[in-house]
Amino acid sequence: MENLYKKLLDGNKRFAESKKFEDKEYFKKLSYGQTPDYLWIGCSDSRVPANEITSTKSGEIFVHRNVANLVVHTDMNLLSVLEFAINNLKIKHIIVCGHYGCGGVKAAMSNDLHGFVDNWLCNIKDVYTKHEKELSAIKEPDKREDRLTELNVIEQVRNVAKTTIVQQAWKVRPLHIHGWVYGINSGLITDLCVIHDDQESLEEIYRFKL
Ligand code: CO
Repeated sequence: MENLYKKLLDGNKRFAESKKFEDKEYFKKLSYGQTPDYLWIGCSDSRVPANEITSTKSGEIFVHRNVANLVVHTDMNLLSVLEFAINNLKIKHIIVCGHYGCGGVKAAMSNDLHGFVDNWLCNIKDVYTKHEKELSAIKEPDKREDRLTELNVIEQVRNVAKTTIVQQAWKVRPLHIHGWVYGINSGLITDLCVIHDDQESLEEIYRFKL
């Protein structure tokens, strides 16, 4: 048990060797800098690694992960990542990727106490309240949970779009925000097709919802 961590260090050696075997300059090239086109906002869940499930390599995706892929407007960590990704890295696409079977969503749907994380998960409870009519009409608990997972992604996409950072970027250049859900039991991503790519796409929604 104590040596469990050694597996990671051994794995790292194999990784470095195999990359160098494929391309002697691999790490040298990466050391010049990063120019990723995508910012990934995903769940911390160990089964949803951004690069692995999208068959992308080091340097291709800038990643921010937290429990239940939330975009909270007072989260300095996320806002810093977002600003750096947009203004410095000039990323072109932001992807909020949730996943079915999310423990965070599950926990938010119960009234049990889980600890400090419940304060964080209040944000999902707010999503539930906002869509209560639709959700309470779904009788099967699993299906209701899946729908809340999707609605949570949609709301987080909107939250990204509402940040001053994105609003300012839209004034000067194209930037697309996508909402996806990953199926742990299928390995496949579903595009929820809730893309926001300008101020108008956001106003469409709020004209009716606010
Ligand atoms: Co999750």
